[in-house]
Amino acid sequence: MTAEPTITLERDDIQAPVLHPRPTHYAGTMILVRIDERRAGRELLRRLIPFVPSAAGPPDPDRAAWAAVALSFQGLRALGVPADSLASFPPEFQQGMAARAADLGDTGESAPEHWEAPLGSADVHLAIYALAPDSDRLDAVLAGARDALREVSGVAPLWRQDTYMLPNERTSFGFKDGISHPAIEGSGIPGSNPHEEPFKAGEFVLGYPNGNGELPPAPQPEVLGRNGSYIVFRKLQTRVAAFRQYVRAHAKTPDEEELLAAKFVGRWPSGAPLVLAPERDDPALGADPGRNNAFMYAADDARGLKCPLGAHARRTNPRDASIIGVARMHRIIRRSASYGPMLPEGVLEDDGADRGILFVSLQAQLARQFEFVKTQWVNDGTFFGTPPDKDPLVGPNDGSGVFTVPQQPIRRRLTELPQFVVNRGGEYCFMPGLRALRWLAELDA
Ligand code: HEM
Repeated sequence: MTAEPTITLERDDIQAPVLHPRPTHYAGTMILVRIDERRAGRELLRRLIPFVPSAAGPPDPDRAAWAAVALSFQGLRALGVPADSLASFPPEFQQGMAARAADLGDTGESAPEHWEAPLGSADVHLAIYALAPDSDRLDAVLAGARDALREVSGVAPLWRQDTYMLPNERTSFGFKDGISHPAIEGSGIPGSNPHEEPFKAGEFVLGYPNGNGELPPAPQPEVLGRNGSYIVFRKLQTRVAAFRQYVRAHAKTPDEEELLAAKFVGRWPSGAPLVLAPERDDPALGADPGRNNAFMYAADDARGLKCPLGAHARRTNPRDASIIGVARMHRIIRRSASYGPMLPEGVLEDDGADRGILFVSLQAQLARQFEFVKTQWVNDGTFFGTPPDKDPLVGPNDGSGVFTVPQQPIRRRLTELPQFVVNRGGEYCFMPGLRALRWLAELDA
Protein backbone atom coordinates (compact mmCIF):
# COMPACT_ATOMS: atom_id res chain seq x y z
CA MET A 1 0.00 0.00 0.00
CA THR A 2 1.37 3.41 -0.93
CA ALA A 3 1.18 6.14 1.64
CA GLU A 4 -1.09 9.08 0.81
CA PRO A 5 0.93 12.16 -0.05
CA THR A 6 0.41 14.62 2.76
CA ILE A 7 0.03 18.31 2.26
CA THR A 8 0.65 20.93 4.85
CA LEU A 9 -2.15 23.43 5.04
CA GLU A 10 -0.99 26.87 6.15
CA ARG A 11 -3.65 27.00 8.81
CA ASP A 12 -2.10 30.07 10.38
CA ASP A 13 -2.78 32.00 7.16
CA ILE A 14 -6.32 30.73 6.45
CA GLN A 15 -9.24 32.57 8.04
CA ALA A 16 -10.92 30.53 10.78
CA PRO A 17 -14.37 29.83 9.26
CA VAL A 18 -12.89 28.06 6.25
CA LEU A 19 -11.86 25.17 8.49
CA HIS A 20 -13.82 25.62 11.73
CA PRO A 21 -17.44 24.48 11.88
CA ARG A 22 -20.03 26.79 13.38
CA PRO A 23 -20.37 26.39 17.16
CA THR A 24 -23.40 24.27 18.12
CA HIS A 25 -24.86 27.13 20.17
CA TYR A 26 -24.16 30.41 18.54
CA ALA A 27 -24.73 34.13 18.22
CA GLY A 28 -23.56 35.84 15.05
CA THR A 29 -23.51 39.08 13.10
CA MET A 30 -22.79 40.08 9.55
CA ILE A 31 -21.91 43.72 8.87
CA LEU A 32 -21.60 45.11 5.34
CA VAL A 33 -19.45 48.15 4.73
CA ARG A 34 -19.02 50.60 1.85
CA ILE A 35 -15.53 51.94 1.18
CA ASP A 36 -15.84 55.56 0.05
CA GLU A 37 -12.13 56.30 0.00
CA ARG A 38 -9.47 53.71 -0.82
CA ARG A 39 -7.03 54.84 1.83
CA ALA A 40 -9.78 54.65 4.44
CA GLY A 41 -10.61 51.15 3.26
CA ARG A 42 -6.99 50.09 3.68
CA GLU A 43 -6.85 51.70 7.11
CA LEU A 44 -10.00 49.80 8.09
CA LEU A 45 -8.40 46.54 6.95
CA ARG A 46 -5.24 47.33 8.94
CA ARG A 47 -7.39 47.89 12.01
CA LEU A 48 -9.45 44.73 11.44
CA ILE A 49 -6.59 42.27 10.81
CA PRO A 50 -5.60 41.85 14.50
CA PHE A 51 -9.16 40.71 15.25
CA VAL A 52 -9.34 38.13 12.46
CA PRO A 53 -8.20 34.78 13.83
CA SER A 54 -6.57 32.15 11.68
CA ALA A 55 -7.69 28.53 11.44
CA ALA A 56 -4.69 27.49 13.54
CA GLY A 57 -6.77 27.97 16.68
CA PRO A 58 -8.47 25.26 18.75
CA PRO A 59 -10.31 22.71 16.61
CA ASP A 60 -13.24 22.47 19.02
CA PRO A 61 -15.96 24.66 17.48
CA ASP A 62 -17.73 25.16 20.78
CA ARG A 63 -14.75 27.01 22.18
CA ALA A 64 -14.06 29.01 19.06
CA ALA A 65 -15.28 32.52 18.29
CA TRP A 66 -14.23 34.19 15.10
CA ALA A 67 -14.66 37.27 12.97
CA ALA A 68 -13.87 36.94 9.29
CA VAL A 69 -13.36 39.59 6.62
CA ALA A 70 -14.25 39.25 2.95
CA LEU A 71 -14.47 41.60 -0.02
CA SER A 72 -16.74 41.74 -3.03
CA PHE A 73 -15.32 42.49 -6.46
CA GLN A 74 -16.56 46.08 -6.08
CA GLY A 75 -14.83 46.17 -2.71
CA LEU A 76 -11.49 45.09 -4.16
CA ARG A 77 -11.92 47.79 -6.76
CA ALA A 78 -12.77 50.37 -4.11
CA LEU A 79 -9.55 49.43 -2.28
CA GLY A 80 -7.56 50.21 -5.41
CA VAL A 81 -6.48 46.69 -6.34
CA PRO A 82 -4.62 47.00 -9.68
CA ALA A 83 -6.62 46.39 -12.86
CA ASP A 84 -4.61 43.34 -13.98
CA SER A 85 -5.21 41.72 -10.62
CA LEU A 86 -8.95 42.51 -10.73
CA ALA A 87 -9.12 40.99 -14.19
CA SER A 88 -7.61 37.74 -12.88
CA PHE A 89 -10.72 36.97 -10.78
CA PRO A 90 -13.29 34.59 -12.33
CA PRO A 91 -16.12 36.21 -14.32
CA GLU A 92 -18.94 35.14 -11.99
CA PHE A 93 -17.18 36.82 -9.08
CA GLN A 94 -16.55 39.96 -11.11
CA GLN A 95 -20.22 40.12 -12.06
CA GLY A 96 -21.52 39.64 -8.52
CA MET A 97 -24.58 37.71 -7.37
CA ALA A 98 -27.28 40.10 -8.61
CA ALA A 99 -25.98 39.91 -12.19
CA ARG A 100 -26.22 36.11 -11.99
CA ALA A 101 -29.86 36.19 -10.80
CA ALA A 102 -31.51 34.78 -13.92
CA ASP A 103 -29.15 31.79 -13.97
CA LEU A 104 -29.42 31.23 -10.23
CA GLY A 105 -33.22 31.20 -10.32
CA ASP A 106 -33.42 34.44 -8.33
CA THR A 107 -36.53 35.55 -10.18
CA GLY A 108 -40.03 36.65 -9.15
CA GLU A 109 -40.05 37.55 -5.47
CA SER A 110 -36.37 36.57 -5.20
CA ALA A 111 -35.31 38.91 -8.01
CA PRO A 112 -32.71 41.58 -7.19
CA GLU A 113 -35.24 44.41 -7.63
CA HIS A 114 -36.96 43.14 -4.47
CA TRP A 115 -33.77 42.62 -2.46
CA GLU A 116 -33.18 44.42 0.81
CA ALA A 117 -31.03 47.52 0.23
CA PRO A 118 -28.06 47.66 -0.22
CA LEU A 119 -27.86 43.95 -1.19
CA GLY A 120 -27.22 43.53 -4.89
CA SER A 121 -25.92 47.09 -5.27
CA ALA A 122 -22.37 48.18 -6.10
CA ASP A 123 -22.13 49.61 -2.54
CA VAL A 124 -21.54 46.25 -0.83
CA HIS A 125 -17.75 46.24 -0.50
CA LEU A 126 -16.61 44.55 2.66
CA ALA A 127 -18.29 41.94 4.84
CA ILE A 128 -17.44 41.22 8.46
CA TYR A 129 -18.95 37.91 9.54
CA ALA A 130 -18.62 36.85 13.17
CA LEU A 131 -19.88 33.76 14.97
CA ALA A 132 -19.34 32.84 18.61
CA PRO A 133 -20.77 30.31 21.07
CA ASP A 134 -22.67 33.10 22.92
CA SER A 135 -23.42 36.82 22.71
CA ASP A 136 -20.73 37.81 25.26
CA ARG A 137 -18.02 36.17 23.20
CA LEU A 138 -19.56 37.62 20.05
CA ASP A 139 -19.37 41.13 21.53
CA ALA A 140 -15.77 40.52 22.52
CA VAL A 141 -14.78 39.32 19.08
CA LEU A 142 -16.58 42.24 17.41
CA ALA A 143 -15.47 45.02 19.77
CA GLY A 144 -12.33 45.84 17.77
CA ALA A 145 -14.24 45.89 14.49
CA ARG A 146 -16.88 48.21 15.93
CA ASP A 147 -14.20 50.62 17.22
CA ALA A 148 -12.48 50.61 13.84
CA LEU A 149 -15.73 51.31 12.02
CA ARG A 150 -16.48 54.20 14.37
CA GLU A 151 -13.02 55.72 14.20
CA VAL A 152 -12.09 55.40 10.53
CA SER A 153 -13.78 58.01 8.35
CA GLY A 154 -14.28 57.29 4.67
CA VAL A 155 -15.94 53.93 5.25
CA ALA A 156 -19.65 53.43 6.04
CA PRO A 157 -21.37 50.44 7.68
CA LEU A 158 -24.56 49.93 5.63
CA TRP A 159 -26.29 46.77 6.76
CA ARG A 160 -26.22 44.39 9.64
CA GLN A 161 -27.83 41.03 10.21
CA ASP A 162 -27.82 39.38 13.61
CA THR A 163 -28.18 35.62 13.82
CA TYR A 164 -28.72 33.27 16.75
CA MET A 165 -29.74 29.77 17.53
CA LEU A 166 -33.51 29.43 18.04
CA PRO A 167 -34.73 28.16 21.45
CA ASN A 168 -35.54 24.75 19.93
CA GLU A 169 -31.97 24.55 18.52
CA ARG A 170 -33.31 24.10 14.99
CA THR A 171 -33.83 26.19 11.89
CA SER A 172 -37.12 28.02 11.45
CA PHE A 173 -38.65 25.10 9.51
CA GLY A 174 -38.11 23.00 12.64
CA PHE A 175 -35.13 20.89 11.53
CA LYS A 176 -31.67 20.72 13.00
CA ASP A 177 -29.05 22.10 10.61
CA GLY A 178 -25.28 22.38 10.48
CA ILE A 179 -24.72 18.64 10.83
CA SER A 180 -22.89 17.56 7.68
CA HIS A 181 -19.33 18.85 7.20
CA PRO A 182 -16.64 17.55 4.86
CA ALA A 183 -13.23 16.57 6.20
CA ILE A 184 -10.42 18.54 4.54
CA GLU A 185 -7.12 16.78 3.99
CA GLY A 186 -4.33 18.31 6.03
CA SER A 187 -6.65 20.38 8.25
CA GLY A 188 -6.46 18.08 11.27
CA ILE A 189 -10.17 18.74 11.81
CA PRO A 190 -12.39 15.67 11.42
CA GLY A 191 -15.40 15.69 9.10
CA SER A 192 -18.79 14.46 10.29
CA ASN A 193 -19.07 11.39 8.04
CA PRO A 194 -16.66 8.51 8.76
CA HIS A 195 -17.67 6.88 5.43
CA GLU A 196 -16.75 9.90 3.33
CA GLU A 197 -13.18 10.29 2.05
CA PRO A 198 -11.58 13.58 3.10
CA PHE A 199 -11.61 16.27 0.40
CA LYS A 200 -8.50 17.78 -1.14
CA ALA A 201 -7.79 21.19 0.36
CA GLY A 202 -7.96 22.78 -3.11
CA GLU A 203 -11.71 22.14 -3.16
CA PHE A 204 -12.06 24.88 -0.58
CA VAL A 205 -8.79 26.80 -0.27
CA LEU A 206 -6.79 28.40 -3.10
CA GLY A 207 -3.17 27.41 -3.54
CA TYR A 208 -3.55 23.64 -3.05
CA PRO A 209 -4.43 20.81 -5.47
CA ASN A 210 -8.13 19.98 -5.77
CA GLY A 211 -9.80 16.61 -6.41
CA ASN A 212 -8.69 16.69 -10.05
CA GLY A 213 -5.08 17.16 -9.01
CA GLU A 214 -5.13 20.75 -10.29
CA LEU A 215 -4.65 24.05 -8.56
CA PRO A 216 -7.97 25.91 -8.56
CA PRO A 217 -7.83 29.13 -10.61
CA ALA A 218 -6.55 31.87 -8.32
CA PRO A 219 -6.32 35.63 -8.62
CA GLN A 220 -2.94 37.23 -9.12
CA PRO A 221 -0.50 38.06 -7.69
CA GLU A 222 0.07 34.80 -5.87
CA VAL A 223 0.14 36.52 -2.46
CA LEU A 224 -3.43 37.72 -2.98
CA GLY A 225 -4.90 34.32 -3.91
CA ARG A 226 -3.01 31.94 -1.66
CA ASN A 227 -5.04 30.59 1.26
CA GLY A 228 -8.13 32.47 0.13
CA SER A 229 -11.60 31.09 -0.42
CA TYR A 230 -14.82 32.36 -2.00
CA ILE A 231 -17.72 33.00 0.33
CA VAL A 232 -21.35 33.19 -0.77
CA PHE A 233 -23.94 34.76 1.48
CA ARG A 234 -27.69 34.94 0.93
CA LYS A 235 -30.40 36.13 3.27
CA LEU A 236 -33.02 33.41 2.76
CA GLN A 237 -36.44 34.14 4.18
CA THR A 238 -38.42 31.06 5.16
CA ARG A 239 -42.20 30.79 4.81
CA VAL A 240 -42.70 28.50 7.72
CA ALA A 241 -46.50 28.80 7.95
CA ALA A 242 -46.86 27.98 4.25
CA PHE A 243 -44.64 24.91 4.71
CA ARG A 244 -46.65 23.70 7.69
CA GLN A 245 -49.92 24.29 5.83
CA TYR A 246 -48.68 22.35 2.81
CA VAL A 247 -47.58 19.40 4.91
CA ARG A 248 -50.85 19.43 6.89
CA ALA A 249 -52.92 19.50 3.70
CA HIS A 250 -50.99 16.70 2.01
CA ALA A 251 -50.35 14.27 4.86
CA LYS A 252 -52.79 11.38 4.61
CA THR A 253 -53.12 11.15 8.40
CA PRO A 254 -52.00 13.46 11.25
CA ASP A 255 -49.40 10.83 12.14
CA GLU A 256 -47.89 11.09 8.69
CA GLU A 257 -47.22 14.85 8.92
CA GLU A 258 -43.81 14.61 10.54
CA LEU A 259 -42.68 11.89 8.12
CA LEU A 260 -43.80 13.91 5.11
CA ALA A 261 -41.93 16.99 6.33
CA ALA A 262 -38.85 14.83 6.96
CA LYS A 263 -39.05 13.55 3.36
CA PHE A 264 -38.68 17.17 2.19
CA VAL A 265 -35.50 17.61 4.22
CA GLY A 266 -33.91 14.14 4.27
CA ARG A 267 -33.66 14.28 8.04
CA TRP A 268 -36.09 14.30 10.97
CA PRO A 269 -36.47 17.41 13.15
CA SER A 270 -33.85 16.05 15.57
CA GLY A 271 -31.35 15.72 12.71
CA ALA A 272 -31.63 11.91 12.54
CA PRO A 273 -31.14 10.98 8.86
CA LEU A 274 -33.97 9.14 7.10
CA VAL A 275 -31.50 6.59 5.75
CA LEU A 276 -30.69 5.44 9.28
CA ALA A 277 -34.13 6.08 10.80
CA PRO A 278 -36.67 5.60 8.00
CA GLU A 279 -39.83 5.25 10.05
CA ARG A 280 -39.73 7.59 13.00
CA ASP A 281 -37.54 10.26 14.51
CA ASP A 282 -34.71 9.05 16.72
CA PRO A 283 -33.62 12.01 18.89
CA ALA A 284 -30.69 10.06 20.38
CA LEU A 285 -29.37 9.43 16.87
CA GLY A 286 -29.97 13.06 15.84
CA ALA A 287 -27.99 14.30 18.84
CA ASP A 288 -25.06 11.93 18.39
CA PRO A 289 -22.33 13.54 16.25
CA GLY A 290 -20.64 10.16 15.93
CA ARG A 291 -23.68 8.65 14.20
CA ASN A 292 -25.95 11.39 12.80
CA ASN A 293 -23.98 11.75 9.57
CA ALA A 294 -22.45 8.27 9.35
CA PHE A 295 -24.17 7.08 6.20
CA MET A 296 -24.04 6.92 2.42
CA TYR A 297 -26.92 6.37 0.02
CA ALA A 298 -25.91 3.71 -2.55
CA ALA A 299 -25.79 0.64 -0.32
CA ASP A 300 -28.64 1.45 2.06
CA ASP A 301 -31.11 3.41 -0.02
CA ALA A 302 -30.23 3.38 -3.71
CA ARG A 303 -33.85 3.87 -4.83
CA GLY A 304 -34.71 6.54 -2.32
CA LEU A 305 -37.37 4.51 -0.53
CA LYS A 306 -36.08 5.85 2.80
CA CYS A 307 -34.78 9.27 1.78
CA PRO A 308 -36.23 10.55 -1.52
CA LEU A 309 -33.66 11.23 -4.25
CA GLY A 310 -34.96 14.78 -4.37
CA ALA A 311 -34.97 15.55 -0.61
CA HIS A 312 -33.12 18.78 0.19
CA ALA A 313 -30.11 17.29 1.96
CA ARG A 314 -29.78 14.38 -0.50
CA ARG A 315 -29.86 16.48 -3.66
CA THR A 316 -27.44 19.08 -2.27
CA ASN A 317 -24.96 16.31 -1.38
CA PRO A 318 -25.88 13.05 -3.13
CA ARG A 319 -22.76 11.39 -1.64
CA ASP A 320 -22.30 8.05 -3.44
CA ALA A 321 -25.83 7.91 -4.93
CA SER A 322 -26.09 7.21 -8.62
CA ILE A 323 -26.51 10.57 -10.36
CA ILE A 324 -25.28 12.07 -13.59
CA GLY A 325 -21.76 13.39 -12.90
CA VAL A 326 -19.46 13.27 -9.90
CA ALA A 327 -21.03 14.50 -6.68
CA ARG A 328 -17.71 15.15 -4.93
CA MET A 329 -16.84 17.89 -7.41
CA HIS A 330 -19.61 20.07 -6.09
CA ARG A 331 -19.22 19.98 -2.34
CA ILE A 332 -19.63 23.19 -0.39
CA ILE A 333 -18.85 24.06 3.20
CA ARG A 334 -21.75 25.70 5.02
CA ARG A 335 -21.47 28.25 7.82
CA SER A 336 -25.12 29.35 7.81
CA ALA A 337 -26.99 30.74 10.81
CA SER A 338 -30.65 31.48 11.64
CA TYR A 339 -32.19 34.92 11.95
CA GLY A 340 -35.57 36.13 13.18
CA PRO A 341 -37.95 34.69 15.80
CA MET A 342 -39.27 31.16 15.55
CA LEU A 343 -42.91 30.64 14.62
CA PRO A 344 -44.30 28.90 17.72
CA GLU A 345 -44.84 25.18 17.33
CA GLY A 346 -48.25 24.29 15.92
CA VAL A 347 -49.04 27.76 14.50
CA LEU A 348 -50.23 27.52 10.92
CA GLU A 349 -50.96 31.19 10.23
CA ASP A 350 -48.21 33.52 9.09
CA ASP A 351 -47.41 36.15 11.74
CA GLY A 352 -45.65 38.47 9.28
CA ALA A 353 -42.26 38.16 11.02
CA ASP A 354 -39.09 38.06 8.94
CA ARG A 355 -37.26 34.80 9.67
CA GLY A 356 -34.90 32.47 7.90
CA ILE A 357 -31.28 31.66 7.36
CA LEU A 358 -28.26 33.73 6.57
CA PHE A 359 -26.95 31.09 4.19
CA VAL A 360 -23.16 31.08 3.97
CA SER A 361 -21.08 28.74 1.85
CA LEU A 362 -17.34 28.50 1.27
CA GLN A 363 -15.63 27.00 -1.75
CA ALA A 364 -12.66 27.37 -4.09
CA GLN A 365 -14.74 27.81 -7.24
CA LEU A 366 -18.07 29.62 -7.29
CA ALA A 367 -19.12 28.24 -10.67
CA ARG A 368 -18.30 24.59 -9.96
CA GLN A 369 -19.55 24.55 -6.40
CA PHE A 370 -22.21 27.00 -5.16
CA GLU A 371 -23.53 27.93 -8.62
CA PHE A 372 -23.62 24.31 -9.78
CA VAL A 373 -25.42 23.12 -6.66
CA LYS A 374 -27.96 25.93 -6.93
CA THR A 375 -28.65 25.78 -10.66
CA GLN A 376 -28.37 22.03 -11.33
CA TRP A 377 -29.31 20.33 -8.11
CA VAL A 378 -31.62 22.79 -6.31
CA ASN A 379 -33.38 24.32 -9.33
CA ASP A 380 -33.58 21.22 -11.54
CA GLY A 381 -34.20 17.49 -11.13
CA THR A 382 -32.47 16.17 -14.26
CA PHE A 383 -29.44 14.90 -12.34
CA PHE A 384 -31.67 12.73 -10.17
CA GLY A 385 -33.84 11.37 -12.95
CA THR A 386 -36.84 13.55 -12.11
CA PRO A 387 -36.42 16.59 -14.43
CA PRO A 388 -39.48 18.61 -13.37
CA ASP A 389 -38.67 18.41 -9.64
CA LYS A 390 -36.90 21.32 -8.00
CA ASP A 391 -35.68 21.20 -4.40
CA PRO A 392 -39.01 20.85 -2.55
CA LEU A 393 -37.85 22.89 0.45
CA VAL A 394 -35.60 25.65 -0.91
CA GLY A 395 -36.10 25.50 -4.69
CA PRO A 396 -37.74 28.28 -6.70
CA ASN A 397 -41.16 26.63 -6.89
CA ASP A 398 -44.10 28.79 -7.94
CA GLY A 399 -47.26 26.93 -7.03
CA SER A 400 -46.72 24.34 -9.73
CA GLY A 401 -43.75 22.54 -8.14
CA VAL A 402 -43.56 18.76 -8.06
CA PHE A 403 -41.88 16.46 -5.51
CA THR A 404 -41.50 12.74 -6.19
CA VAL A 405 -41.43 10.50 -3.13
CA PRO A 406 -40.36 6.95 -4.06
CA GLN A 407 -42.42 4.33 -2.24
CA GLN A 408 -43.85 0.89 -2.87
CA PRO A 409 -45.91 -0.25 -4.70
CA ILE A 410 -46.05 3.08 -6.56
CA ARG A 411 -44.26 6.36 -6.03
CA ARG A 412 -46.10 9.34 -4.65
CA ARG A 413 -46.10 12.69 -6.45
CA LEU A 414 -46.78 15.82 -4.50
CA THR A 415 -47.87 18.70 -6.71
CA GLU A 416 -48.59 22.43 -6.59
CA LEU A 417 -45.62 23.18 -4.38
CA PRO A 418 -45.37 26.88 -3.57
CA GLN A 419 -42.14 28.73 -2.82
CA PHE A 420 -41.09 28.19 0.80
CA VAL A 421 -37.84 30.18 0.62
CA VAL A 422 -37.34 33.66 -0.83
CA ASN A 423 -33.95 35.23 -1.42
CA ARG A 424 -33.78 38.69 0.15
CA GLY A 425 -30.36 39.32 -1.38
CA GLY A 426 -26.74 38.35 -1.14
CA GLU A 427 -23.28 38.65 -2.64
CA TYR A 428 -20.17 36.79 -3.71
CA CYS A 429 -17.10 37.76 -1.71
CA PHE A 430 -13.47 36.71 -1.59
CA MET A 431 -12.13 35.77 1.83
CA PRO A 432 -8.37 36.32 1.52
CA GLY A 433 -5.72 34.63 3.62
CA LEU A 434 -4.22 36.77 6.38
CA ARG A 435 -1.06 37.58 4.40
CA ALA A 436 -3.27 38.67 1.51
CA LEU A 437 -5.31 40.89 3.84
CA ARG A 438 -2.06 42.61 4.86
CA TRP A 439 -1.06 42.93 1.19
CA LEU A 440 -4.39 44.64 0.50
CA ALA A 441 -4.00 46.93 3.51
CA GLU A 442 -0.55 47.96 2.31
CA LEU A 443 -1.47 48.80 -1.29
CA ASP A 444 -0.09 52.25 -1.92
CA ALA A 445 -1.14 53.40 -5.36
C1 HEM B 1 -33.68 28.57 4.02
C2 HEM B 1 -32.91 27.79 3.32
C3 HEM B 1 -32.35 26.48 3.79
C4 HEM B 1 -32.69 25.68 4.85
C5 HEM B 1 -33.77 25.92 5.90
C6 HEM B 1 -31.80 24.55 4.83
C7 HEM B 1 -31.82 23.50 5.74
C8 HEM B 1 -31.00 22.41 5.72
C9 HEM B 1 -31.05 21.31 6.65
C10 HEM B 1 -32.06 21.19 7.80
C11 HEM B 1 -30.07 20.45 6.32
C12 HEM B 1 -29.74 19.13 7.01
C13 HEM B 1 -28.70 19.29 8.07
C14 HEM B 1 -27.28 19.00 7.65
O1 HEM B 1 -27.05 18.04 6.90
O2 HEM B 1 -26.37 19.73 8.08
C15 HEM B 1 -29.38 21.00 5.18
C16 HEM B 1 -28.30 20.43 4.55
C17 HEM B 1 -27.65 20.97 3.46
N1 HEM B 1 -28.04 22.07 2.75
FE1 HEM B 1 -29.54 23.33 3.20
N2 HEM B 1 -30.95 24.66 3.76
C18 HEM B 1 -31.26 25.83 3.10
C19 HEM B 1 -30.69 26.31 1.95
C20 HEM B 1 -29.69 25.69 1.26
C21 HEM B 1 -29.14 26.14 -0.01
C22 HEM B 1 -29.60 27.38 -0.77
C23 HEM B 1 -28.15 25.26 -0.33
C24 HEM B 1 -27.22 25.24 -1.52
C25 HEM B 1 -27.33 26.01 -2.57
C26 HEM B 1 -28.07 24.28 0.72
C27 HEM B 1 -27.15 23.24 0.78
C28 HEM B 1 -27.13 22.27 1.74
C29 HEM B 1 -26.10 21.24 1.80
C30 HEM B 1 -24.90 21.08 0.87
C31 HEM B 1 -26.44 20.43 2.88
C32 HEM B 1 -25.65 19.23 3.40
C33 HEM B 1 -26.17 17.95 2.84
C34 HEM B 1 -25.33 16.79 3.31
O3 HEM B 1 -24.10 16.91 3.33
O4 HEM B 1 -25.91 15.78 3.66
N3 HEM B 1 -29.03 24.56 1.66
N4 HEM B 1 -29.98 22.19 4.82
